Formats: sequence, structure tokens, C-alpha cells
Amino acid sequence: MERILVTGGAGFIGSNFCNLNKEEYEVIALDNLFLGDERNLLPDIRFIKGDACTKEDLDKAGPVDYVVHLAGTSSAPMFMDDGFVEGYVNSIQSFATVLDWARRNGAKKVLYASTSSLYGNNPLPLVEDQQVTPINHYAVTKRTYEYCARCYNKVYPQMDIVGFRFMSVYGPNEEAKGIYANLISQFCWDIARDKAPVIYGDGTQTRDFTNVRDVAQGLILAIKTDKKLGADVFNIGTGRATSVNEIVDALNKAFGKNIKPKHIENPVKEDYVLGQYADISKIKEVLDYEPTVRLETGIKEQVESLKIEKIRETSSDQYR
Ligand SMILES: NC(=O)c1ccc[n+]([C@@H]2O[C@H](COP(=O)([O-])OP(=O)(O)OC[C@H]3O[C@@H](n4cnc5c(N)ncnc54)[C@H](O)[C@@H]3O)[C@@H](O)[C@H]2O)c1
Repeated sequence: MERILVTGGAGFIGSNFCNLNKEEYEVIALDNLFLGDERNLLPDIRFIKGDACTKEDLDKAGPVDYVVHLAGTSSAPMFMDDGFVEGYVNSIQSFATVLDWARRNGAKKVLYASTSSLYGNNPLPLVEDQQVTPINHYAVTKRTYEYCARCYNKVYPQMDIVGFRFMSVYGPNEEAKGIYANLISQFCWDIARDKAPVIYGDGTQTRDFTNVRDVAQGLILAIKTDKKLGADVFNIGTGRATSVNEIVDALNKAFGKNIKPKHIENPVKEDYVLGQYADISKIKEVLDYEPTVRLETGIKEQVESLKIEKIRETSSDQYR
């Protein structure tokens, strides 16, 4: 069986990826539990409590065929105030350490998380070859990954280093992210507690909400392909824009409730993303990717799998 090391493997996307692929691959989840939770992983998955910034911790995984690098400081607000230096160090150091470790250990590919945040308010649909200017530190770290991957791959072309600009990812296992979780999770937790979800502005802003199973699909297709991917970068999304108002409606429907949202003036005065949806023609063409989870289905599943006892007290008026 081929072996995949997943850094950030106990986190939201990492744990879903591990759980979905454990039958076909030997997946090893490494996480320092900064935000992750080992209980997100199915019991027969090997878990290493360790830091992706540390070669010695990566060594504990033994030789691997692939690395999926999802560890890092995973959202823009985490870089605020005291998180600034640590956020940069954690994200950049882990990426560089993982790349070098993977190459020295003969890995065939490193796949890593970039982000749709890079696009800011670019014209829609968001296409990989658009010019991007990161608008926050989080996006700067991901853009740095992309540049670093390109330079590293020029020197060591034997190992593909492939980036994925995830759109707005939702699904189960996001409780440990608390206030940093996706808006669907936060609204889901609010409505479960009969609390009004707080919407910035009129709720017509849109996101390309992408189920975590489809993110896992895109990653695994990149592992399976025989195509040489070099240091390419792909969007992963659905190609559809859904408004925040529609999300509240869909959640209410799934819960059988009618909780009215609370609209407030948008406190984010600069660079607030008004609309988002990806052009996914590149990943479709190169990797044969096709989004499979309809939003209504994904939301229904999320409501059904709700672990109410694990929800931290979140303030739904933050970080939209
Ligand atoms: N969730 C989204 O919508 C989204 C969108 C775009 C990009 N991304 C990126 O995808 C990746 C995974 O995101 P997520 O939503 O699962 O976030 P997450 O915070 O749940 O997962 C990241 C995991 O990495 C761990 N971690 C952080 N630093 C580490 C280190 N140095 N060593 C080992 N483990 C470490 C954390 O404990 C956490 O479990 C992140 O890089 C994030 O920036 C996520």
C-alpha cells in the first residue's frame, strides 16, 4: 500500500481526507493539535502528535510516497495582534521543512493548501492565471508557498509540488476551529442552539461553498494521476456562487426550523469579499475532477452529523 503523510491531519480538512482514503492508502496524520482534534480521525488511522516545522517529528512517519501539507496557520484573523510573527513562522517554516523532508525521503509529490483568499475581489469567475495581490497576511503566506514551490521544483523537478486554492470549504469535523470555522458551520451551530445567525450587510454576498469530500477528491486525483504536474496550481470549488442568505434558508430547512438571521452593518470596511466562485475548468481538464456533493445534500449531512456537545461557545458576529 502506498503511504501518505497528512500534516494538519487532525484538523478539519486533514481528518476528512484521512478518513476518506484510509482503505486505499496507508494514511498517517501528523498534527501538533494547535487547532486539530485527534478524535476527528477514525480509530485505525495512525496519528503522530508532532510539529511539521520539525524534521525529527516528520521522521516519525518513516518513508512516504506522498505528503499532503495542510498544517499551518489556517485563517486570516489568526495573524492579528499576537498571532502575527507566530503565524508567519509556523506557515512558512512548516512548508519549507516539509518540502525538504519530502524530497530527501524520496516522496513523489507534495500537495499543499493554498487559498481562494488570494483572489480578493478579482473579477468572477476566479481563474488561476489571474493576477493576484494578497490582501492579508494569511494570503501572503499561501502566495509564498506557490512561489516557493515553483523555485524548488525548478531545482528538484523529480518531485511534483502541487498547490490547491480551496474555495470556501464546509463539512463535518470543524468544531475545533471554533470562531475560525466556516460560516456554514457557525450558522449551523447557531441555529442548533436557536440563536440568530449574524449576517454582515444584506446577505447577498456569495461564496463558492465546497464540500470537504470534493476537496479530498481533488487531492486524491492529483495523487493518482500519472501526469507530471510540476509546480502547478489548481482551484478546487464547485463553480457556483451561493449567497449567505441562501445558506441560512438551507440550514433552516435541514433543521426544520425558521430562525431569522440578524443583519448588522458590515464591520469589515476594507477588502471584504463580496462575491466568490471559481472557474474549475483547469482541474476538470487536467485531473478529471467533478464536484459531486450538492450544497443541500452537504448541509443536510452536516446537520445530521452535528456533535452539539463539541461546539465551543462561538460568537457568530466575528470573522466573516
Ligand atoms: N477551510 C477552508 O475553507 C480553507 C480554505 C482555503 C485554504 N485552507 C487551508 O487548508 C489547510 C487546512 O485547513 P483547515 O480548514 O482544515 O484548518 P485546520 O486549522 O482545521 O487544520 C490545520 C491543522 O494544522 C494543525 N497545525 C497547525 N500548525 C501545525 C504545525 N506546525 N505542525 C503540525 N500541525 C499543525 C492544526 O492543529 C490543525 O489541526 C490550511 O492550510 C488552510 O489554510 C482552508
